[in-house]
Amino acid sequence: MSIRSKEDLKGMRAASQAVAVALREMCAYARPGISTLELDEYGNGILEKFGARSAPQKEYNFPGYNCISVNLECAHGIPSAKVILQEGDLGNIDVSAELNGYFGDNGYSFVLGQDHQQLSPLVEASKEILRAAIGRIKGGVKIAAVGGFIESEAKKRGFTTIKNLVGHGIGKSLHEAPKELPNFYDRFNRQRFKTNTVVALETFISTKARYVETMRDGWTLKATDGSFIAQHEHTLLVTDGAPEILTVENGI
Ligand code: CO
Ligand code: CO
Repeated sequence: MSIRSKEDLKGMRAASQAVAVALREMCAYARPGISTLELDEYGNGILEKFGARSAPQKEYNFPGYNCISVNLECAHGIPSAKVILQEGDLGNIDVSAELNGYFGDNGYSFVLGQDHQQLSPLVEASKEILRAAIGRIKGGVKIAAVGGFIESEAKKRGFTTIKNLVGHGIGKSLHEAPKELPNFYDRFNRQRFKTNTVVALETFISTKARYVETMRDGWTLKATDGSFIAQHEHTLLVTDGAPEILTVENGI
């Protein structure tokens, strides 16, 4: 979406703030022994306090409020009473919500407690690469160039990027034009970032995989080769200089 008024900007900031606070609080609440269902309901309580509504549920009939993916699950994990968080788990919480007609989207991967699976390098790489990639975005920059940067930074650290999961434009719906902000150099993508638009940039950094598949539940995405994947995501306002990170509560 292009920001066309003060109201648009205020609306995007408010929706982004709601998801950022919910995500921060959910990450703080996550601990071994609780179920992802409990974590999801806790997060929804925070969204409700802002008057915000879960975007996956509202826009896609997702069977939960927030996408919570554990270990080999990469994205769109369904909150469940049967999934109990354990020490050393790789967790990903992706909170997106609508507030007064505007959408915010914010995602975060983390290792829960002791890093038994030695996944901190993957998680740190994803965080650092997102931060560096955001720093390269401004009006006029090619979308493919940023994707290529993410891929090459991942490669330098011995990791891969997922080709069939992408960032996206955002605004008055969760997914808007530009439809794809890939994590690789897509030579067919000739689009450029535009000043005053809002986008959700999200990394998908993997230990080995290039693609994910949808599981039988119809939602959960994972690599079928046993690779782990970390994702971090911010909603941004593109400007002529450094982007404004709207989901700023999670200072990564
Ligand atoms: Co998201
Ligand atoms: Co997103």
